[in-house]
Amino acid sequence: MSRLVDVAGLDDVPPGTMLMVQVDDTNILLVNLEGIVRAVQGTCSHEYFELDRGFLTGDSVTCALHLSRFDLATGEALDPPAEVPLRTYPVRVADGRISLELPEGPVPVNE
Ligand code: FES
Repeated sequence: MSRLVDVAGLDDVPPGTMLMVQVDDTNILLVNLEGIVRAVQGTCSHEYFELDRGFLTGDSVTCALHLSRFDLATGEALDPPAEVPLRTYPVRVADGRISLELPEGPVPVNE
């Protein structure tokens, strides 16, 4: 079972930017890659650090604490020290709103 959760307006995340949102107190990072919106867990899988404090590097986000990069489409950790991928969440965009397809219950996050 999954649920569709409205998290932001498309205007809130212009192309080339990212926005942290919370679902049930869990951070989720939205990124607009030139019109394609991606959603990944908002905290690093290496140690606890908010990824919106990092920076976008092409199709990846770089954690500002130890500089691991993560692929925004797959969540894969591209550089050490992080090894565990970020969770990714399916995104739906409709009528200017961004929604995430999430499982029922706690939002899954990798640590
Ligand atoms: S906390 Fe993100 S790379 Fe270490």
